[in-house]
This record gives sequence, structure tokens and C-alpha cells, in this order.
Amino acid sequence: MPYEIKKQKVLVTGGAGFIGSNLIDSLLSHDNTVICLDNFSTGSIHNLTSAQKNPKFTLLEGDIRDGEVCKKAVEGCDYVFHQAALGSVPRSIADPITSTEVNILGFVNLLFVAQEAGAKRFIYAASSSTYGDHQALPKVEHVIGNSLSPYAITKYVDELFAKNFSDIYGIETVGLRYFNVFGRRQDPNGAYAAVIPKFVSSLLAHKSPYINGDGTNSRDFTYIDNVIQANQLAAAVPTELFKERMKEYQSNMEGVPEVIEEAAISEVFNVAFGERTSLNELAEAIKKGLSKYDPAIADISFQYGPNRPGDVAHSMASIQKGKSILGYQPKYSFQTGLKEACAWYWENLK
Ligand SMILES: NC(=O)c1ccc[n+]([C@@H]2O[C@H](COP(=O)([O-])OP(=O)(O)OC[C@H]3O[C@@H](n4cnc5c(N)ncnc54)[C@H](O)[C@@H]3O)[C@@H](O)[C@H]2O)c1
Repeated sequence: MPYEIKKQKVLVTGGAGFIGSNLIDSLLSHDNTVICLDNFSTGSIHNLTSAQKNPKFTLLEGDIRDGEVCKKAVEGCDYVFHQAALGSVPRSIADPITSTEVNILGFVNLLFVAQEAGAKRFIYAASSSTYGDHQALPKVEHVIGNSLSPYAITKYVDELFAKNFSDIYGIETVGLRYFNVFGRRQDPNGAYAAVIPKFVSSLLAHKSPYINGDGTNSRDFTYIDNVIQANQLAAAVPTELFKERMKEYQSNMEGVPEVIEEAAISEVFNVAFGERTSLNELAEAIKKGLSKYDPAIADISFQYGPNRPGDVAHSMASIQKGKSILGYQPKYSFQTGLKEACAWYWENLK
């Protein structure tokens, strides 16, 4: 990779979760000192098994809604990778209050203490749900619609705070709008599990998975290692180069707000592969991937039900901005990523 951070002190919030724990392993492998802040509400200590063997790793159990906890966690950190949040659109519809507290108040807590502590850059998990009801495909960062769920609102509000704090306090912020991330350690359990681990765990139990809608809805499924790459680059691309590339991108792309030379960096990027796969195609691909290990899975059929409220029909990213400014080059397509994920789930869930 052209730019990577090495030998830095970093904070990863939500580090016991799916994305955070994978990010921690990558940061430790680059000789960084890593602090993890997590309250284990959806994450698991098992995700940190290998990290805990590394002397450069420290685990802080605590809640991002507590400003004092955040202050302690960020002390002396050069970079913050803020992953902690309550994910899931249906969860935010069932309990909008807790999602709002964690995803907005927790975010502002972290951002505030990060700038106070003099962190060089604040990289945070944003979401493709911010595109809301805007129909255009592929999604480009500066064109968004109306939010369709409390979760989507929280993630958009975070972007507004990030921009505002960059303007007021001068902290550099980079938001990564993840598109349906999947891969090792993504939790298959619970009412709010994501679609890929949900399908996988049903099939491994020889149960018929349930598709919301008629299966034609589509998503830009993104393998975890592409997301790790984007995080590394988002932290490591030097300020001057970042701004130079932003100016060039803006001059070639209609509608991108003007880059102000003196302003601190505050940008958002799509993190995806840049293709879309329907739920029917996904179901078939997972069946094929798993029947290599258990041939009986090939005969299992899927059930269909109504669409879920708050879900968009189609989602697919333009990844041009990330390519131009961060040098993002996703290595795993949906197909190659799914092969890896099926192998991991077979090893760990069967
Ligand atoms: N997985 C995806 O497809 C996807 C897509 C878009 C955005 N995101 C965002 O990426 C981030 C990581 O998602 P994930 O899929 O790894 O989810 P996850 O649930 O596996 O991880 C989230 C982690 O945050 C921790 N956490 C939650 N509330 C906390 C609190 N109050 N204090 C401290 N820790 C807390 C959880 O215990 C968990 O370890 C989230 O911000 C999510 O909104 C994920």
C-alpha cells in the first residue's frame, strides 16, 4: 500500500466488534500501539484473542457515552479510528433513543476529546444509509437524499459534526461511508445480524433462510479487507497531498464543494467495491460457496417475505473519490471476498 501508518499510538473504538477487531489486527501488524475502547454491547472478547497476545495492545472497557472514559482512552493518541456505534436500521427503529445516544452523543464525545488531545486525524465509520431515498446509481459522495431511518440520521449528523469540528477546532476528519461490509468475525447471532452471516448460519443449520422482499433488492457488498485498506489510507495520506488531490478531484467533478486551502481536511468517502449484487444472487452465491463443504446445502431453498421499513431498494457506490484522493484500490471483489468468508464461517461455525 502506498501509505500506511506505522509505529503510531492509535485509539480504536468499537474494537471488539466485527470491523474494529479486524482493524486492530491490521494496525498491530504495522507495529502501532493500539488502545481499544468498547463496552461489549454487541462486540465480543473472542474477537480480541490475537490482539490480547500483543504487548502493544491495551483494552479499556467503557462506554463512549461517558466523556471522562473517552478522555482517558484518547490520551496521547495520534489517530482515532471511531467504529463504536449501534448498527442496524431495524434496531434504530425499535429503539431510536439508544441509537441516538450512542451514535451521536458518543460520536461528539470522542471527536471533542480527540481535538482537545491534539490527535492528528479522526477517521470514523460513516454509512451508505446516508444516501437515503436518493435514487441515483452509482452513489457519489456529494449527492444525498432524505434519511430513511433513525440510524441513517445519526450517521449523517455525525458527518455534520465532523465538518463543523474541523472548521471550528481545526481537527482533520475523514468519514468512511461503508457499504454492506462482510467477512470474518461478522456476528451471525441476534435479531439484528447482517444478511450474509444470517444466510450463512441458517444454511449451515440446514434451515431455509428468509429474504426480505422479492430478492431483487441489491447491495454493494464489501469485503472486510477492502475496508481495512481504506482506513489505513484515510489515516496515512499526508495533509498536503490530500488537499492537492482534493483540488484536482473537485476541478474534474461537477457539484463538489470548493476546497478551501486554509481549512482543515474534512471529507467523506464511499468504501465499497463498486458493483451490486441482488439478494437472489447473493443467496445463490452463498449456497454455492458453502455446498463445497456440505453438499446438502445445495438443495435448501429460500423463503420470501415483505420488504423491511427503512431499507433502500438498491445501493451501489462510485469509488472514484477514494481512488483519486486516498489511492484506494479494493483487492477483493464480492466473489473473492465471499469465498474467504465461507471458508471462515465453515471453520468457525460448523
Ligand atoms: N457492518 C457494516 O456493514 C456497516 C455498514 C455501514 C457502517 N457501519 C459502521 O461501522 C461501525 C462498526 O460496525 P460493525 O459492523 O463492526 O458493528 P459491531 O456491532 O460488530 O461493532 C460495533 C462495536 O461497538 C461497540 N459499542 C457499541 N456501543 C458502544 C458504546 N456505547 N460504547 C463503547 N462501545 C460500543 C460494540 O460493543 C461493538 O464491539 C459502526 O459504526 C457501524 O455503524 C457498518
